[in-house]
Amino acid sequence: MKFGYFDDEKREYVITRPDTPLPWINYLGCQAYFGIISNTAGGYSFYRDARLRRLTRYRYNNVPYDLSGRYIYLRDDESGEFWSSSWQPTQHDLEDYTCRHGMGYTLIGSRYCGIAAHTNYFVPLDENLEIWQLTIANQRSRRASLSVFSSIEFCLWDAQDDATNFQRNFSIGQVEIEDGVIYHKTEYRERRDHFAYFACSGKVEAFDTQREAFLGPYRSWDKPAAVERGRLTNSIAHGWAPIGAHQVKAELAPGESRQLIFVLGYHENPREQKFDPPESQTLNKKSVKPVIAKYLDSAQVEAAFEKLRQYWDGLLAICQVETPDVHTNRMVNIWNAYQCMATFNMSRSASFYESGIGRGLGFRDSNQDLLGFVHMVPSRARERILDLAATQLPTGGAYHQYQPLTKRGNNDIGGNFNDDPHWLILGVAAYLKETGDWSILDEPVPYDNNPGSEQPLYEHLQRSFKYTLDRLGPHGLPLIGRADWNDCLNLNCFSDTPGQSFQTTTNKDGKVAESVFIAGLFVLAGRELAEIAQCRGLAQEANDYLAQVAAMEDTIRQHGWDGEWFLRAYDDFGRKIGSKECLEGKIFIETQGFCVLAGVGLDDGRAVKSMESVAQYLATEHGIILQQPAYSKYYLELGEISSYPPGYKENAGIFCHNNPWVMIAETRVGSGDRAHDYYSRINPSAREAISDLHRCEPYVYAQMIAGRDAPTFGEAKNSWLTGTAAWNYYAITQWILGIRTSYVGLEISPVIPKSWRGFKATRIFRGVTYHIAVERAGEGNHVALKVDGVPIKGNTVLPPAGGRKEVWVEATLS
Ligand code: GLC
Ligand code: GLC
Repeated sequence: MKFGYFDDEKREYVITRPDTPLPWINYLGCQAYFGIISNTAGGYSFYRDARLRRLTRYRYNNVPYDLSGRYIYLRDDESGEFWSSSWQPTQHDLEDYTCRHGMGYTLIGSRYCGIAAHTNYFVPLDENLEIWQLTIANQRSRRASLSVFSSIEFCLWDAQDDATNFQRNFSIGQVEIEDGVIYHKTEYRERRDHFAYFACSGKVEAFDTQREAFLGPYRSWDKPAAVERGRLTNSIAHGWAPIGAHQVKAELAPGESRQLIFVLGYHENPREQKFDPPESQTLNKKSVKPVIAKYLDSAQVEAAFEKLRQYWDGLLAICQVETPDVHTNRMVNIWNAYQCMATFNMSRSASFYESGIGRGLGFRDSNQDLLGFVHMVPSRARERILDLAATQLPTGGAYHQYQPLTKRGNNDIGGNFNDDPHWLILGVAAYLKETGDWSILDEPVPYDNNPGSEQPLYEHLQRSFKYTLDRLGPHGLPLIGRADWNDCLNLNCFSDTPGQSFQTTTNKDGKVAESVFIAGLFVLAGRELAEIAQCRGLAQEANDYLAQVAAMEDTIRQHGWDGEWFLRAYDDFGRKIGSKECLEGKIFIETQGFCVLAGVGLDDGRAVKSMESVAQYLATEHGIILQQPAYSKYYLELGEISSYPPGYKENAGIFCHNNPWVMIAETRVGSGDRAHDYYSRINPSAREAISDLHRCEPYVYAQMIAGRDAPTFGEAKNSWLTGTAAWNYYAITQWILGIRTSYVGLEISPVIPKSWRGFKATRIFRGVTYHIAVERAGEGNHVALKVDGVPIKGNTVLPPAGGRKEVWVEATLS
């Protein structure tokens, strides 16, 4: 069953009924100001950091309830009836409800009692504000006398504190109102130099800024007393719960329509110019007023919206494909790329499943996110890499997370996740391949943000690699530390105390438990580092890396192979994990996917065998399960993985993040059929038809789909912020379609299904547009290339001579 449809032409998903199985959300803003918006206008906004600069309040544990949002109420002043055209919060039986989630905007509207109302929500580029552009049309045959009410609830900035510290919070809220603009200035009197504002283009009849005055005691957002009464009260918030609400009258003749613009924004003043006059406590509004005035003007709003459209046209144009599969096309050309922007911006911090108050940006997550983002805005990828590297520790290890506002490593969680440093090598490699900007390696970057400790970025990569060599275990495999990619395989934790963090509790000295996964990661990162060294003219160093890699491959063959698949790890007792000898958790996906994609076992049959085992034991119609059999009870020596009921999350859920590793691995053993089949099983668009089972948005990936051991097999959870976005994008574009960036040029090595006769693609790479046509002449994956009609040797197209900006590539597969 579906709840809407894709409008590929407009790059929108159109939701046609409001009661989707879960709130289906979108992100507004892609630079510094962000909003999350559901299909019924729920959600919240923040500036840069969802925890420390939260503009609007959202209630936690709120899915699918989804209340708190950008609500507009319409009231028929003759009958006194009121409703919201976004369905929530009044939940009227609306006609023609639609929500169009597009690239950086969401348009929600409906008709009720002959009044059509649609609101376009978006964040203009380069501005710290959001616009709600409301169009109301009177489709009745008589006059309509309406009141329009806007509403938002301010958050007192630090979202964590806001949700908990009421003894203080109920006394600190402050606002100012001037010319109908509501300014939220809590804590501005002391150490903050920023404030929020909420403005309206219509003549403001009245306003409210105190929640209780607006809602009335013991009422919720579904029937605010002031709206019911038809008159806001001009309340001024002193403490309690500051909100913003405007009332505007709209008299509409039959057939007449009207536009109203609301602007919600964030503004900072220089510290010495906070007040106006300086000795007063009144906000200095000099620099914000022109911004507000600009965006209350509909011509300016239209222009800003057009600019946003063009921005996305430009970003998406960098990689466009035309394959025989509509779901591939739609995801690559539109939604998967779009999701990669969101994961790059948010990491795992703010969604409807990530509260925005907990985690900052993850070190490994953000590095992996680059894989799907680097081609879109390389300059931001560069900045991110340098920020991440600056949180690296002198040991080569890394803080597991950092807060985006302070850019400091997060001490609460610390480091010792022994996979972390290698992802930096992979992130930098992706950047170098995309841009050819070798200067990044010479950038001085501090360790642990300590001034004076700066070393070239290249040295950070060297230390990342060495970090593992300094931490090998009894079998010569890398010690796992607190966890590797699988945050829930906590082999040194041994926690039996409720509520303890599995990731930060360490009851063992960590000298025994080893990770075969990190070994595979080491092989991949080591090969990249060797190539980088080679390109820098450091042949000896490159050889050293390759020797270490070869030694690690040997170790994997000796101690990391179980006969039919790769082992997963050794626990603190030196016992195997992910082996046929185990009762539960006999086979894990991570090492099958990652070792093979890193090239381990390609030459000795192990890779093929490993892929066969995945197909036999882990693959299901809803995707590939993380491990089998699921852990049926809690194992002290395994940690969080065995804390989840069977079939969920890391305990045998379909953890979509690592499905693409297997897709890539399948391309490495030459099976385009299997690779694309796995791709399709978790492709959200391909799952649209089963939206009632899948439940999450059909236009973006979710972190997990419940595995076959779960009572809800096939149900997705944790949509949007997941490494799944980048890895699927990378797998389909660079490995299955095979349009692959390399240090020297653009490689074309498709491994596509046998049934495909070919495909076309356009890829803008280092300023050159490549028009690529792939045709099948035989069943294999052998590639013969012609560049501008001339046959070339090998699979890599070098940058064109003479500054040419367009190149035609024909690839014949046989
Ligand atoms: C989550 C985490 C990621 C981790 C994965 C597996 O996606 O953000 O860092 O690798 O779970 O545990
Ligand atoms: C990952 C896992 C989750 C775990 C978390 C801890 O996100 O998916 O199960 O709780 O890491 O950081």
